[in-house]
Amino acid sequence: MTALLAWLADTAIADWIQQSRWGYAVVNALHVLGIALLVGAIAALDLRLLGWQRRLAVVALARLLQPVAIAGLGLAISAGALLFLADPLDYAAMPLFRFKLVLVALAIVNALAFNLGPGPANASPRRQRLAGALSLALWIAVLACGRFLAFV
Ligand code: HEM
Repeated sequence: MTALLAWLADTAIADWIQQSRWGYAVVNALHVLGIALLVGAIAALDLRLLGWQRRLAVVALARLLQPVAIAGLGLAISAGALLFLADPLDYAAMPLFRFKLVLVALAIVNALAFNLGPGPANASPRRQRLAGALSLALWIAVLACGRFLAFV
């Protein structure tokens, strides 16, 4: 594992992110843009799943907000992977960084279990509340872990 991380730290793209004056700043801005799209869209859908604004149809909201959230997730993960290359050995050794990745995985599993299971159209109100509450709590925790990384 250490050998793989050391190899990653030595790749041309890692060199670029470590040395480029504006590269890190631009990739960081793209990470934040991805997070804004992801958490903004998913928090609105989660609040509806929790029972807020019941007159709005869950299926129509999901059709609008889930593609935005998925695009944001793709951008956050791609830009996050590039940020990771700035210092793979140190990040991989940080418990908070590992915890953040576990939370990202759990949040994705929660979304997949809801959508590939009952789905927004057929889920009972109880199942909707469970999915919405877990999603909101997990994504907020991921966001907090990401922000706190700079301070540990
Ligand atoms: C998908 C959901 C994700 C969220 C909500 C998230 C959230 C955040 C936040 C809020 C920051 C701080 C940004 C700033 O204040 O400038 C951050 C930084 C960072 N994220 Fe993420 N992140 C996500 C995914 C990832 C992934 C998948 C990776 C790695 C594979 C990653 C790697 C990083 C790194 C390396 C930093 C810089 C930490 C530092 O300040 O040293 N992130 N993230």
